[in-house]
Amino acid sequence: MNQSWDPKLYSRDAAFVSNYGTDLLSMLDPAEGRSLLDLGCGEGALTEKLLSLGWNVTGVDSSEEQVRAALMRGISAKVMDGEHLKFDETFDYVFSNAALHWMKKPKKVLDGVWNALKAGGSFVGEMGACGNVESVVRIASNILMEKGFDPKEFNPWYFPSEDEYSELLIARGFSIESIQTFRRPTELPGDILDWLTIFAQSFTSPLKNSHKKQFYCEMRERLKGQLLSDEGKWIVDYVRLRFKAFRLV
Ligand code: BEZ
Repeated sequence: MNQSWDPKLYSRDAAFVSNYGTDLLSMLDPAEGRSLLDLGCGEGALTEKLLSLGWNVTGVDSSEEQVRAALMRGISAKVMDGEHLKFDETFDYVFSNAALHWMKKPKKVLDGVWNALKAGGSFVGEMGACGNVESVVRIASNILMEKGFDPKEFNPWYFPSEDEYSELLIARGFSIESIQTFRRPTELPGDILDWLTIFAQSFTSPLKNSHKKQFYCEMRERLKGQLLSDEGKWIVDYVRLRFKAFRLV
């Protein structure tokens, strides 16, 4: 996958990701100093909140730049790929907000999460669900196909249905306490070009650098009808999957 992260841009244009994640914190029990792995901690905005709630937090993220930014906030963070987690019965909780959909091999992720948890430990997560940012995926795929590329190769996201993810969790030995899918139309703080530049880079990977901006502008034109409101706000068609599960033994 061709994706890089700029912590400053992310904090400016994507702060809504960790703001929405604050809601997910209510699915955690009181911290009481227990250990928690923040899987896909990014630049650490939400991880910082976990710390302030009294969790003994370790953050991991595959982006060196984001981990550097998290370290600057005083978070214990390391660069680690979520499909190759290297922990052994270390944590009471694994928590993940808006990160699991960037990991296209969910079985590997769940193996790593299961191993990282102590027996009886909890896995609390939110990710994009089946149908998430559907209009973005459709338009990006159409433009790539028109240019003669296979869009599947360049789609960086894994958005499972509730049934599919439930099956994976159960097959790996988790017991599901709750799992739900819900729509969350998400108003962007600025123009969709900023969002595309941060999140949709992978779709432009077969293109020359000099053609990437044009690709995003073409997407913007085609998305206007569906995502630009009469008031001039961009509202993206987010659909979320939220769950809490336990490692059984
Ligand atoms: C999401 O959090 O749902 C998301 C993030 C980036 C791209 C697409 C979706």
